[in-house]
Amino acid sequence: EIVNVILSGGVGSRLWPLSRKSKPKQYIPIFEGKSLFKHTLERNQKIAEKLILVGNSQNIELSSSELEGITYTKIIESVPRNTAAAVAFAAFACHSDDVLFVTPSDHLIEDEEAYLKAINQGIAFAQEGYIATFGIEPNKPETGYGYIEHKNNAVISFREKPNEYTAKEFLKKGNFLWNSGIFCFRAGVYLNELMRFEPNLYAAAEKAYEFSKDGYLNEELSLQIPSKSIDYAVMERSEHIKVVPSNFYWSDMGSFDSLYSYLVKKGHPVDEHGNISIGVDKHVTFLGLTDSVLINTNDAMLVLHKSKAQEVKDIYEQLEREN
Ligand code: GDD
Ligand code: MG
Repeated sequence: EIVNVILSGGVGSRLWPLSRKSKPKQYIPIFEGKSLFKHTLERNQKIAEKLILVGNSQNIELSSSELEGITYTKIIESVPRNTAAAVAFAAFACHSDDVLFVTPSDHLIEDEEAYLKAINQGIAFAQEGYIATFGIEPNKPETGYGYIEHKNNAVISFREKPNEYTAKEFLKKGNFLWNSGIFCFRAGVYLNELMRFEPNLYAAAEKAYEFSKDGYLNEELSLQIPSKSIDYAVMERSEHIKVVPSNFYWSDMGSFDSLYSYLVKKGHPVDEHGNISIGVDKHVTFLGLTDSVLINTNDAMLVLHKSKAQEVKDIYEQLEREN
């Protein structure tokens, strides 16, 4: 069977105050009236025969309401243990020959036809026993992504979150793609690689899964699972990786920088100095400001210059500490 695994664990702290712990960015219905979660679901339903949601106890209600009327298996974490474990739980719930395609729930993808074509190519690689990744042509030395050094579909190396100097080198060399964060493999292939590279993580995840109840993982046993991403645990080390160079529009909608570009592209009002406001129902004037964003929510407001988009995370973390 072809199984879509939707990961919904993140908080989206760089989109505060739009994105909150109580309502992370993937559930905010501002993308043509729908949430990114919903878009992810609808896109993937064109291929998937089965759906597994790996979410957490804080957002399960939000996920459930997006999934109304759909049959799916839910796996709920009481404590987040990062993606290597999250994907392992889904694999434990499958037959070892099932083909999993793992997708984040918080990405924006356009050009569905190209997307579905790429995923189908990935599924074909998965059926041959490979781990398929999907590579996006990079346009800046972003340090928050993984990079895939490749020649056509062959992967030479996978490098998670390089520093800026290295990322610039990758761009100069030219044969590096961004890892989109979407993966495709047979359940058994992933579990074998995990067992080989991270035996402790594998064993701890298996135990927490084994003692889960009604889809809820055992909390005490979950705390024993090393917190490591799939990228560091498996992708950087496996020798069975292929890449599908992809040309669909992709954005991880991580910060106000990418949200700004998206909104403006979709015709959101922007003044002559590049200022925009979000969530405001009255007239706003920006005087002496350029490329700024005003975000208004019920209980918090943020005004920032676009160039500070990455620093929003610090505000979020500061507020977390204070509360
Ligand atoms: N269920 C669950 N549990 N989901 C999780 C957990 C967890 O513990 N941790 C993260 N996720 C979900 C996030 O919600 C997100 O949808 C996805 O898994 C990836 O996690 P991120 O934390 O957003 O990863 P990243 O952005 O730092 O890096 C990954 O994505 C990049 C592209 O956006 C890597 O795969 C990079 O290589 C990649 O370039
Ligand atoms: Mg991310």
